[in-house]
Amino acid sequence: MGRATILTGLGAAVPESVLTNEMLAARMDTSDEWIVSRTGIRERRVVTPDIATGDLAVQAGAHALKSAEVDAVDAVVLATTTPDHRCPATAPSVAARLGLGRVAAYDVGAVCSGFLYGLASGSGLVSAGIADRVLVIGAEAFTTIIDPGDRTTAPIFGDGAGAVVLEAGDEARRGALVAFDLGSDGDLADLIMIPAGGSRRRVARAPGDEFMKMQGRPVFMNAVTRMVESSRNVLEKTGWPPESVDLLVGHQANVRILYAVADQLGLPHEKAFVNLDRYGNTAAASIPLALADAAQRGRLCAGDRVLLTAFGGGATWGAVALEWPRLTSY
Ligand code: UT7
Repeated sequence: MGRATILTGLGAAVPESVLTNEMLAARMDTSDEWIVSRTGIRERRVVTPDIATGDLAVQAGAHALKSAEVDAVDAVVLATTTPDHRCPATAPSVAARLGLGRVAAYDVGAVCSGFLYGLASGSGLVSAGIADRVLVIGAEAFTTIIDPGDRTTAPIFGDGAGAVVLEAGDEARRGALVAFDLGSDGDLADLIMIPAGGSRRRVARAPGDEFMKMQGRPVFMNAVTRMVESSRNVLEKTGWPPESVDLLVGHQANVRILYAVADQLGLPHEKAFVNLDRYGNTAAASIPLALADAAQRGRLCAGDRVLLTAFGGGATWGAVALEWPRLTSY
């Protein structure tokens, strides 16, 4: 049997503070009815000023290590769009705070596809023999880059974190990451962007340039197309017929996107996991947060065929197929 990557632990964390649609409607020109009907989102968790991405990452990482019943890893990969500082990366500090010692630790940036890029990176370390065990975290304090008065983004995004432990193992073992597909199109970089604050435009030229801007409609259309295409690519690599997928855990951006992807793959809507109603779009945290939620709700059983897919800024996208492991906690 070949050296495969096995998912052996899962954990998540969200800040306590809840921001409901009604609260948003009280401070901007929007309504619960518009937000629910256009996105499916009812509320989201938001960080208070004392909480940063690293804090959520540490909590989710600790849960994942406990779930895997391990206290050491060889590397920490943190997918985030909202690092604690522009420099250095947040992963080394997360590794140190988790008591993991002087392990390799780095951030991965692919916005809403970040966790899938992180999974591929962690799995690559394992399959190349560089690491035997990797902690992969997706964590965001995404609301810190959102203009609180912008009705085109403020209702969409929320904060949170999720994490998994990956270990080298036998490819026949439950929990194996079976296939990956990743892609990007930099010609679409403008669709999701913070205009100022980087090396290209150091200072804001217009008010609000330090916040993330999103062109919702083209993002929606590209998200459906690329998530379907990427999902088909991994299904082809695994040889799994689409109808054999037990759960589709897509990036939680918009329930209409998730159902459109399910429709085009020929999956019933019941197989598309949805928890964005309670958390909104948490970018790189969304897929591991959804996995932990699905596991807690009994929607994931050992041996289930699980399809993950995401689309995000860059533009970036990806899909991952895995067989669900037997986990004792999450
Ligand atoms: O995380 C990366 C992936 N991100 C996504 O996948 C997000 C993808 N995009 C979407 O989910 C949707 O495009 C949105 C939810 C962001 C927007 O929904 P939409 O159906 O595409 O609406 P729209 O932007 O085309 O706007 C429709 C109307 C506009 O009014 P007019 O021009 O028709 O008069 C907007 O001004 O809705 C208006 N509008 C709002 N109305 C009330 C936009 N935002 C709001 C709002 N409340 N919050």
